[in-house]
Amino acid sequence: SILIVDFGSQVTQLIARRVREAGVYSEIAPFNTAAEAFARMQPKGIILSGGPSSVMWEDSPRAPQALFDAGIPILGICYGQQTMMQQLGGNVEGGESGEFGRAFIEVKKPCALFDGLWTTGDKHQVWMSHGDKVTTLAPGFEVVATSEGAPYAITANEAKRFYATQFHPEVVHTPDGAKLLANFVRHVCGLAGDWTMAEFRAAKIAEIRAQVGEGRVICGLSGGVDSAVAAVLIHEAIGDQLTCVFVDHGLMRLGEAEQVVSLFREHYGIKLVHVNAEDRFLGGLAGLTDPEKKRKFIGGEFIKVFEEEAAKVGGADFLAQGTLYPDVIESVSFTGGPSVTIKSHHNVGGLPERMNMKLVEPLRELFKDEVRVLGKELGLPDIFVGRHPFPGPGLAIRIPGEVTKERCDILRKADFIYLEEIRNAGLYDAIWQAFAVLLPVRTVGVMGDLRTYDSVCAVRAVTSTDGMTADIYPFDAAFLSRVATRIINEVKGINRVVYDYTSKPPGTIEWE
Ligand code: XMP
Repeated sequence: SILIVDFGSQVTQLIARRVREAGVYSEIAPFNTAAEAFARMQPKGIILSGGPSSVMWEDSPRAPQALFDAGIPILGICYGQQTMMQQLGGNVEGGESGEFGRAFIEVKKPCALFDGLWTTGDKHQVWMSHGDKVTTLAPGFEVVATSEGAPYAITANEAKRFYATQFHPEVVHTPDGAKLLANFVRHVCGLAGDWTMAEFRAAKIAEIRAQVGEGRVICGLSGGVDSAVAAVLIHEAIGDQLTCVFVDHGLMRLGEAEQVVSLFREHYGIKLVHVNAEDRFLGGLAGLTDPEKKRKFIGGEFIKVFEEEAAKVGGADFLAQGTLYPDVIESVSFTGGPSVTIKSHHNVGGLPERMNMKLVEPLRELFKDEVRVLGKELGLPDIFVGRHPFPGPGLAIRIPGEVTKERCDILRKADFIYLEEIRNAGLYDAIWQAFAVLLPVRTVGVMGDLRTYDSVCAVRAVTSTDGMTADIYPFDAAFLSRVATRIINEVKGINRVVYDYTSKPPGTIEWE
């Protein structure tokens, strides 16, 4: 295995991800517990992460000396490079100006890290982010690649198999970075590269059992992939000690609630409480038109219903959540200064404290696409695992203005047709999210020689990799006109369909 020593970089988890992608198991340990992790794991290699500190500061974090004496390969990245150099007898100075973003390095010498990948004289794009830089190498090191701003872009002590990069190989903007890391863990550290998600599953199951013991766990299902994968994994670990609660707010898509219930109860045999709270949610939404008021009501009500049901189940010790790594980064913001709230996202953030429960979050290290792979591994149906993201407040934020049962039903039908056409055209997987929106606008039409005065439906489809930015999906005109015709012909209450041509930014993906 590989031990990743964390110095607090925002992208440390990306290092772990790249190592997983290379088929090697790794664990991340904060620098101050790295010595224990090292003794326990007996790793075949070590990666020192970047971090926000400067080695020039007093009390800045250090790698345990034992790591350098262990006789195994070490790769230091950014801050990890600097502390390694200083701890081994080199020198680091504050740069007058830092180097941030794209840079080009030139390979100066062969190095085991480059075997089969880079040759001398090659130039490669890398992603830099540093203020300080190494000014004197530790004994035994030599420069193997340089950039304009960092004469010591990559350095190596081949005898000890110590390597150091000033840039970040773990980010996608270093195009060969993943290969460089794979070379380190496989070629330099000699690991086989045969680790798979099946082993992640087994390791997590053991971890969940150890954490939960004889305790009882309650898990809120949303119908989304993350909570579903978390629930199935936990069920595999502790069986009937798990109870799932599915708060059905009546704002799901057509047939979705039934699918969730039958998948969990019948297919997996998981104890599931299905709370039909449609009346309660629609009752509270009556008269609300402001997007934030709608969101806040749904979020608050969700927590209330969940708490009531959890109390009925009684005596759970743990709350399970499908928290993913990007959620963790967003909630532990290192950016300083409060960021502006664009929308109040619906999550069950404050729940564990309120309910005085401990958390079980088996997906905390994973990214969305990895969760999908794990979901497949656990036997969740493709149609479930590959599903587009769906917001917690559901259709309520796709019905600008007041939400009523009638409007939800109209939207459900239109949305179903739209997605059916997308699936039939083989476009579903090429799209990040596609959905219909029911506008609070009525327009005049003519159908069968009669005047109509009905609602407008907008259809939206975007491509994205993380939901943070998005571009519109460029359907061809024939496809859009087929969708429009079907919706208008088949859904009573809609007589006009428009296509939303707005990217994010300036738009958001959802309409509210
Ligand atoms: P926006 O509309 O902010 O959406 O561009 C970005 C992504 O987040 C989803 N979304 C939510 N997901 N709870 C969620 O779990 C929410 O309250 C929520 N609001 C938006 C949205 O569907 C898109 O994928």
